[in-house]
Amino acid sequence: MDLLIPVASGLEQTVKRQLFSLGYEKAPAQNGRIEVEGDWQDVARLNVLLRSGERVLLRLATFTATTFDELYDGVYALPWEEYLTMDSQILMDGKSVQSQLAAIKVSGGVAKKAIIQRLSDKIRGKRQTFTETGARSIVGFSIFKDEVTITLDTSGEGLHKRGYRSLAYSAPLKETLAAALIDCTFYNPDKDIEKPFADPFCGSGTLPIEAAMKARRIAPGLQRDFDFLHWACVPKGVIEQAKTEAKDNERRTRLPHIFASDINPKAISIAQYHAKRAGIEDCIRFSTQDARAFTSAEKYGVLLSNPPYGERLSDEKEVRALMSGFGKAFRALPDWNAYILTSLPEFERYFGKTADKKKKLFNANLVCGFYSYFGKSPKENDGKKQ
Ligand SMILES: C[S@@+](CC[C@H](N)C(=O)[O-])C[C@H]1O[C@@H](n2cnc3c(N)ncnc32)[C@H](O)[C@@H]1O
Repeated sequence: MDLLIPVASGLEQTVKRQLFSLGYEKAPAQNGRIEVEGDWQDVARLNVLLRSGERVLLRLATFTATTFDELYDGVYALPWEEYLTMDSQILMDGKSVQSQLAAIKVSGGVAKKAIIQRLSDKIRGKRQTFTETGARSIVGFSIFKDEVTITLDTSGEGLHKRGYRSLAYSAPLKETLAAALIDCTFYNPDKDIEKPFADPFCGSGTLPIEAAMKARRIAPGLQRDFDFLHWACVPKGVIEQAKTEAKDNERRTRLPHIFASDINPKAISIAQYHAKRAGIEDCIRFSTQDARAFTSAEKYGVLLSNPPYGERLSDEKEVRALMSGFGKAFRALPDWNAYILTSLPEFERYFGKTADKKKKLFNANLVCGFYSYFGKSPKENDGKKQ
């Protein structure tokens, strides 16, 4: 089967590395999605184990259509009876870019009509009517320059919904983005479990929780449901096998050194609650603290944050002052690495230091800079002494 994994723009290489470590060596990336070949066992593995893919889609076909008739025929030609049943609840999810078939609602209606007709024609003799009372199946149709790609969404809810984050707090990061950002840093708990990881603007706790899950190798999809689990066409046992693999890989006794703080005590209690739900609360030391007072007794460490970005101009002024104070605190820890995701224009100017590396990323459709600052490694410092 052809599997498509949509990924956030700018994170393709990070997700490719995650796929490589799961054994998917051939995974070409194109237009914000990565392709992988696999069977139902791979569908289960990817849904349970992949940290930063947004969904796992099954690609059923790609064909050209410039008229509704061509769209209908292309969709009708697919073996829907292999995937759906007469009670499937079919939801259409479409988009069209630079194509003649631009009316998404109408195109979705045409495609759905073709699916239902095909099911009625093929599942004959059983006197069934189409009820839509059964399992949900989200059928994707993306039309780009008149080329239609038809997919079935095996995940259902987006893969960022791990299940631990149930309370709302201001501007949380998507869990998938948080996990990808961690993979873009030098935080490597498999090599050095003692190395500190800190988020002094932790909000609802997404970054420290994802860091703790990485450190203990807890799979992101262990606690949640997936649409494909409710489909009659899926062989029994695939999810159990994927979960067994995930559990065998865990390192539950590891104790990483993760620090999470925020100026708002409400954020801290929410983050603590989420950490408990994720089963890693003993990995994280929480405190209520102004990030401008951030310090550490540890010489080396990794700091990763997305500070407030200032929605209004008046907020932006405050955020600039905050970044200037925070930059000062960070410069007192010259051997730490810092990684900041922010949409604040001219961030480096206010932070007081030019980044060693910059990358453009999107956070909830907001264009952001991901600024990396590299401290000296123990090796470099030892070399200096000699
Ligand atoms: C964009 S949110 C972080 C969201 C977080 N990454 C999450 O996923 O929930 C920014 C956070 O910075 C906190 N904050 C604002 N000013 C602060 C300061 N001076 N020191 C520490 N935290 C501050 C806010 O309370 C808010 O929780």
